[in-house]
Amino acid sequence: MKNIKKYHLIALFSLLLSSNLVLAQSHKVQVLVLFHSDEGGTYEMAKEVAKGIESEGVATAVIKKVKETNNPKFKDVPLATVDELSSYAGIAFGSPVYFGNISTAMSEFLAKTTGIWSQHGLEGMPATVFMSSGSGAGRELAMQSFWNSLAVHGMVLVANGIRGYEDLDKTIPQGNTVLGTTSLASLKNVPRPSEGERNLARLQGQNFAQIALALQSVPKRKVVAAERKMEWDIYKVMQDKNITLPTIPKPAGNYRPYVRTGNLIYINQYAMGKSGIVHPGKVLVDVTEEEVKEATRVTMLNVLAVLSDALDGDLNRVKRCVNMMGVFNAPDKYTNHALLMNAASDLVVELFGDKGKHARSTLGASSIPGNSPVELMTIFEVE
Ligand SMILES: Cc1cc2nc3c(=O)[nH]c(=O)nc-3n(C[C@H](O)[C@H](O)[C@H](O)COP(=O)(O)O)c2cc1C
Repeated sequence: MKNIKKYHLIALFSLLLSSNLVLAQSHKVQVLVLFHSDEGGTYEMAKEVAKGIESEGVATAVIKKVKETNNPKFKDVPLATVDELSSYAGIAFGSPVYFGNISTAMSEFLAKTTGIWSQHGLEGMPATVFMSSGSGAGRELAMQSFWNSLAVHGMVLVANGIRGYEDLDKTIPQGNTVLGTTSLASLKNVPRPSEGERNLARLQGQNFAQIALALQSVPKRKVVAAERKMEWDIYKVMQDKNITLPTIPKPAGNYRPYVRTGNLIYINQYAMGKSGIVHPGKVLVDVTEEEVKEATRVTMLNVLAVLSDALDGDLNRVKRCVNMMGVFNAPDKYTNHALLMNAASDLVVELFGDKGKHARSTLGASSIPGNSPVELMTIFEVE
């Protein structure tokens, strides 16, 4: 009898413990750290802000960039979409200082938020800003210009004040400002961001997480967040299917990788891979059908890399794939072009869902530039 009571007590205790844990976890809010960086200074700051956000255990930080990059330091950081913004409890924005302003890439990203703005999607959501500057000239102007855009969204702007000033090493110039942390990246008397700047960024994140948590009870943004959940996110699909885009192939002549006219983008590519043409030659003469299908997929990924560049790294702005033409390096009597072309068509539908369904034509050719087994001509409609 005594033992049964003991087991009941232990069970009750573990139940309480686990329900408390679940409660603590479910109360964690999610904060987005959204940055643009060219040289990596702002990215370093973003990581410190994220550490600060997570330091008290009340929030998790999600770091995302606004534009694709080849910088190996943050090449693999996921790309943010405008539509996801309203689903967070707060956003910490980071940008380099460009001529006393935010960077072009950050400005272009914010310019895409008109839809979410007209739905009041960010109203009442806390925002804070941090930047990486060179000498620091005009950095507070730049922070303020950041605030201008965020104020139009009705965001609650969280300043840093003089937080952390006491602990700063005052024998070197530091990037503290009352609006938010900056780094003075061109002053190399110590590695930048300096330890003091990193500490300020962490304190900024820590304070911001508390405010994001406190403001969670303000009713807001339900409509946009709910709508977003139903939307197709190509980056989620790419992540799930482990698909990454290649580096944009350089034009091999006097032409552009793409041309946009109105809302249509035209892109033509052949099977250029990292080290030359993939499976060069004629189908069933030099290469197998399977190899041509592989080369066709590579070609389609090249098309998508160019398309991504044309859309400032936001493939979710694709409204539909309108038309695709595939030309295959094939002998006279070859008739199986449709099978080869499916490698491109299937990929587009896989990535874009219904928006990827397109009209198409396929042809055989006696030769293709560079002895590529395939060339694709594509047209996309975009926002
Ligand atoms: C076009 C351009 C304009 C810039 N304008 C300023 C400026 O007004 N003030 C400043 O301190 N640094 C300026 N810089 C320097 C960058 O802000 C600095 O290099 C920053 O650390 C870059 O951030 P990143 O490493 O994240 O790319 C400018 C850089 C560029 C490319």
